[in-house]
Amino acid sequence: MFEQLEMAPADAILGLTEAFKKDKSPHKINLGVGVYKDAHGETPVLPSVRLAAERVLAAEKTKGYLPIVGDAEFGLLTRKLLLGEPGAAIESAGRARTAHTPGGTGALRVAADFIKRCLGDVMIWMSDPTWANHPAIFDAAGIETHSYPYYDAQNKSVAFSAMCEALKEAPRGDVVLLHACCHNPSGVDLDVEQWRVLAEILKERGLLPLVDFAYQGFGDGLEEDAVGLRILCESLDEILICSSYSKNFGLYRERCGALTVVGASDEAVSRAMSHVEKVVRSNYSNPPAHGGAIVTAILTDNELRAMWEKEVSEMRNRINGMRSLFVKSLKAAGVKQDFSFIEQQRGMFSFSGLTREQVTDLRAKHAIYIVGSGRINVAGMTEANMPALCAAIADVL
Ligand code: LMR
Repeated sequence: MFEQLEMAPADAILGLTEAFKKDKSPHKINLGVGVYKDAHGETPVLPSVRLAAERVLAAEKTKGYLPIVGDAEFGLLTRKLLLGEPGAAIESAGRARTAHTPGGTGALRVAADFIKRCLGDVMIWMSDPTWANHPAIFDAAGIETHSYPYYDAQNKSVAFSAMCEALKEAPRGDVVLLHACCHNPSGVDLDVEQWRVLAEILKERGLLPLVDFAYQGFGDGLEEDAVGLRILCESLDEILICSSYSKNFGLYRERCGALTVVGASDEAVSRAMSHVEKVVRSNYSNPPAHGGAIVTAILTDNELRAMWEKEVSEMRNRINGMRSLFVKSLKAAGVKQDFSFIEQQRGMFSFSGLTREQVTDLRAKHAIYIVGSGRINVAGMTEANMPALCAAIADVL
């Protein structure tokens, strides 16, 4: 039976890493998948994570199952990181509960299955463009996907009026997928005023926000990056939040994320979580423990936490430093086009404006791998690979 199957296409992002590994060029550069790399081009184990992992292993007494939604302390710490001080009232009213999931992708899939099972025939609206895996996850759960305008390629900014107009037309009860910060792939985020306007539209139209929060700390800071989500929390009773510890703790392969459900009351959230539990149980039963134990160890120890916060700042600063160097080096390589907008973008990614043909040429002629949409992982740039990268871009332009 399997011989009759067609090959499925390679994944738009992870497939690039596989192709990159096979490339024999000694000069190859991978700016595809969103993984942080340090100045030496390595994805490090953060020193705070290494220390915490040692402590976790030394103190571990069992390999018994976690509860279906994971450890309660991990859930509480996750909500505190996401919602901060303004979340205290939500917390004391019992209006939020968290399920520890295998990565942010796991959180999105649990959210998608929960929506499909419990919220009727609703549709989900996602930004144009969005992370390539978003439509795939919601399609897989059987939810109809639609997009709203987001990126204004001309002005390299958010097409906010068009976004609002489209969302005002969305049917009541539909779900709106939002990126909390560091929009993937554009690197362009809403400002505070825009979040406020958006919150009003969601409220008026009875739309449910599903906030994908994968890059907390990579934009302007751990607190600063949560501003939009916290504005939504002020105005709305119900929110789904899918967060990830892959990037800010560098725990990519531990698959550690969370789905947080905010509801109108303790009872409403308990009802919702009872269905989330059913979704999890019939999917992966309960979450993998190790990544969550590391996060818990770091967030509950003052010294480790201070160390980790510094490491997050260092990662963010390195990426921003690479943005400036990239813009400068493109000029030095003779590129006439204005790329200064790249310094304004936030997070790991830059929407470079390179066309699909130019992306193909970069790979074929220069062994440089970026996503077909022109998305570049700035975190993969180093001082060492910058001259070759910019010369190659000058060539394909
Ligand atoms: C990315 O967008 O490159 C990351 O979120 C990693 C992934 O799983 O695609």
